[in-house]
Amino acid sequence: MNSSADRSFRVLIIGGGSIGQRHARCFLKTGRARVSVCDTRTAVLNELSSQYPLAATFSDLESALEVPHDVAVVATPAPLHIPMARRLIEAGCHVLIEKPLSTSQEGIDQLKSEAQQHARVVGVAYVMRHNPGIVALREQVRRGSHGPPLQVVYHGGQDFPFFRPAYREIYYRDRATGGGAIQDALTHIVNAVEWIVGPVRAVAADAAHLALEGVDVEDTVHVMARHGDLLASYALNQHQPPNESVLQINCRDASLRAELHANCWKRMKRGETQWQTFHYEFADRDVGFVAQANAFLDSVATGQNVACSVEEAEQTLRCCLAILKAADHRCWVSLTEGQAETEG
Ligand SMILES: NC(=O)c1ccc[n+]([C@@H]2O[C@H](COP(=O)([O-])OP(=O)(O)OC[C@H]3O[C@@H](n4cnc5c(N)ncnc54)[C@H](O)[C@@H]3O)[C@@H](O)[C@H]2O)c1
Repeated sequence: MNSSADRSFRVLIIGGGSIGQRHARCFLKTGRARVSVCDTRTAVLNELSSQYPLAATFSDLESALEVPHDVAVVATPAPLHIPMARRLIEAGCHVLIEKPLSTSQEGIDQLKSEAQQHARVVGVAYVMRHNPGIVALREQVRRGSHGPPLQVVYHGGQDFPFFRPAYREIYYRDRATGGGAIQDALTHIVNAVEWIVGPVRAVAADAAHLALEGVDVEDTVHVMARHGDLLASYALNQHQPPNESVLQINCRDASLRAELHANCWKRMKRGETQWQTFHYEFADRDVGFVAQANAFLDSVATGQNVACSVEEAEQTLRCCLAILKAADHRCWVSLTEGQAETEG
């Protein structure tokens, strides 16, 4: 099952849109999977069948489940993630769920207990965990030789309409379907930072719709956060011309920085005056998705931990729901066990 020459994993992608197509291509690129796609739109299935050697296509989930699959990837809009994942677990599949885990906490406890009961592997596709710059910063922080991380500063943005011209027609246009900068984009970096320095405990936020035409969801967001004793700030927009993403972690004895758009990470130790720069190969976005697909298949084959667990993605979901609340109410919101509580 784990041989790279062996295509024995039967993988079903549910949702053949933008990211479902990438998953189909990247699971095929692992050389370890036969891939089928399920989408309610016939045109999507026809286009994918013409481009990729798919094992089968299905126009609804129930007909797809008449055929056995080992692994399913849920790549539909966020409100469908939990109900679909639960149905897939019930049908015997291991499940990789696209981010964000959901738009609310409904059904997540049941998902966790059903996965355990059916002994199925479930992971969440926070693909930044397969980015070498993020992995390097985590290793640097975790090995402890730079002292404890004290502060995190993130800033990033891109011209989203350039990269996703259909943004007005898809889930992005409405917070209820997982849209807006917080649930769609900021969730990636919050999850990555939580992976490196630990969970967010409280947030204050400001967010606004400033630029994107034809939608009214926030396209700009600023967050102040507490990850335990560590202070963090995040500033993200979806309209600036440069497609750039910079994460800096200031530890007691060194600063670490990932310049994700430049495929490099940097380190400056106390007493030094120059950054030491480490470049890595990252030819295109598929690289991270192929690594993610291989890691998930490895977890299914060997039982090793998934790259991002449901519990970790649930924590990031709680954080993003708290950020939405903090931005809407202009206040601090604490993340207590399982929920957000407004402070003051
Ligand atoms: N990891 C990333 O970098 C990344 C990037 C983009 C999107 N996403 C996430 O992936 C998910 C999908 O995003 P997208 O950009 O591919 O959206 P999309 O609109 O391009 O595709 C969604 C697809 O799901 C299909 N679909 C909807 N309901 C269905 C159903 N009941 N059964 C079968 N198919 C159904 C639609 O027909 C559509 O083709 C979202 O949760 C989004 O946040 C992740």
